Amino acid sequence: MCGIVGYIGKKCDLKKVLIDNLKTLEYRGYDSAGVAIYDGNINIVKAKGKIVNLENSLKDVDICDSNLGIAHTRWATHGEANDINSHPHRVGKVTLVHNGIIENYNDLKKDLIRQGYIFVSDTDTEVLVALLDSIKKKEKDNIKAINSLSKLLIGSYALGIIFDDDCEHLYAVRKDSPLIIGVCNDCNLIASDVTAIIDYTKKYMLIDDYEIAKLGKDIVEVFNSDLLLVNKEISEVTWDINQAKKNGFSHFMLKEINEEPIVLKETISEYIKDVNALIKKMPDFSKYNKIHIVACGSAMHAGLVGKSIIEEYAGIPVIVELASEYRYKKNFYDSKTLVIFISQSGETADTIAALRNVNNDNIDTLAIVNVVGSTIAREAKEVLYIRAGVEIAVATTKAYLLQVAMLILVGLNLAYTNKKLSENEVNFILNEFEEIPSKIQNIICRDSECFNLAKEIYEAKDVFFLGRGIDYSICMEGSLKLKEISYIHSEAYAAGELKHGTISLIEKGTNVIGVITDESLMLKTLSNIKETVARGAKVLLITTDKFNSHYDFNCHEFVVEKVNSVLQPLLIVVPLQLIAFEVARLRGCDIDKPRNLAKSVTVE
Ligand code: AGP
Ligand code: GLU
Repeated sequence: MCGIVGYIGKKCDLKKVLIDNLKTLEYRGYDSAGVAIYDGNINIVKAKGKIVNLENSLKDVDICDSNLGIAHTRWATHGEANDINSHPHRVGKVTLVHNGIIENYNDLKKDLIRQGYIFVSDTDTEVLVALLDSIKKKEKDNIKAINSLSKLLIGSYALGIIFDDDCEHLYAVRKDSPLIIGVCNDCNLIASDVTAIIDYTKKYMLIDDYEIAKLGKDIVEVFNSDLLLVNKEISEVTWDINQAKKNGFSHFMLKEINEEPIVLKETISEYIKDVNALIKKMPDFSKYNKIHIVACGSAMHAGLVGKSIIEEYAGIPVIVELASEYRYKKNFYDSKTLVIFISQSGETADTIAALRNVNNDNIDTLAIVNVVGSTIAREAKEVLYIRAGVEIAVATTKAYLLQVAMLILVGLNLAYTNKKLSENEVNFILNEFEEIPSKIQNIICRDSECFNLAKEIYEAKDVFFLGRGIDYSICMEGSLKLKEISYIHSEAYAAGELKHGTISLIEKGTNVIGVITDESLMLKTLSNIKETVARGAKVLLITTDKFNSHYDFNCHEFVVEKVNSVLQPLLIVVPLQLIAFEVARLRGCDIDKPRNLAKSVTVE
């Protein structure tokens, strides 16, 4: 989803600076790119497709060393991906880049056309910059002009703005879309996330909705919507640039799977010393008798696993909802309900919107987030950070694993708080938890097994993932991993439900992946899988060493060690991640940047 970078500072080869910074945001997903560089004139170069196309276009443009520039990778929402619709957009004496959606752009456009503006692109962004230009005709002060603009816009935006009448400053403003300010000694930067500034500085500022930033080469001023100067805290990036590089791995996704043991250990270590640490390090959950979990994509799948664990071990009812649904439906909660929002990026538009609705109803909220200081982390009443470090691959792996791990810890906390598990029982599980990172490492070392299993699948047209209960939730994630990076259609299906219609799709050679870890449901699931075998399906079973002697049909299998049931999901998802990776690699897919996808979906 879109990337914004901007620079103001000592004169330099801004073509290179902006392109290099833009490349660090490629993982966010995009379909075109562009730059605007001031060297006495505003030089705008834009190109459809990958950043390399922009680089090639820039070679033909003679731009002197410059002190001011902005750049953008676009994820199209209004108008196809082409050169004209790419950003930056310039109207009159204003040039800007935009991440987000202006919902009232049509009405604004009609009014601007009446004022004589002519539009060349299909984008909402061009309307936005024309509006700012029209405001500037009456308001000389740039901060006031931007503030007036914000009052007229409905929707989401992060803007990097250059005004012709002040090329000693770079301006920025945001609402709902992410934007951070990198603070350096001889320059200052804006960016969609810290990945783009880490080569220059680890110091950054977060600006809130409607706050306007005015960056000079050695000063950053931030004004609130009352036009008052506000002091902003300077934060420090906690990870180093190597984490944002592949460090010898072929793909970020493979690197991030390999990081799972260490980041899991870093995330759980403060909680698993004993039950007292687990209780002390988390908010007080004792008053809640109902839990809602709200998220999107893999984060929602983690929530489904969390539901099974919290209901099974703590005896508290949990509903899991997609944020894009939850935000629009009537919800039934009260002061004893805890609404948990899960998000790796902390910037997912639907999840933010759902969180704001719940906050407005004064219901308690907890965020489980990876990116420190992200919108969801800041706006939830409480936050539990996973420590995945930066996750570059669009397909989440380590962050999903840590979301599940955090939900297991929350479940154990609730189980103890609700007197469903004794101190000894919780401590016993926490001791076993400590061994999980090394058990995951052992699974990762079996990637050649995963490669061989991938060879059985990679030419498939359809793949069905079957499971029951918590295994069905894990199937949801296994299916999403496979389809989002290999482009093979796959579905996760409740094993018991298949015979109610969808089994009509099973024919000779259909690939079926069965996930079986729940002992109480094992025989039922095996029966359902045998129903597909009877119709010619090719089966791969992902199971534990406790079950792998219980079936009498030919199938491939990947067997993991049986551990405490509450911890089992952490092991069983790893082969599914590796198999999906190897299938996509065999198919020659763009694994880290799958088509049409974005790492953080900051538009609705
Ligand atoms: C998962 O591999 C995808 N990248 C996607 O489903 C993702 O989990 C979803 O968009 C939610 O993102 P978030 O965790 O940053 O909110
Ligand atoms: N809505 C704008 C457009 O379609 C910006 C999209 C984005 O966030 O990249 O150009």
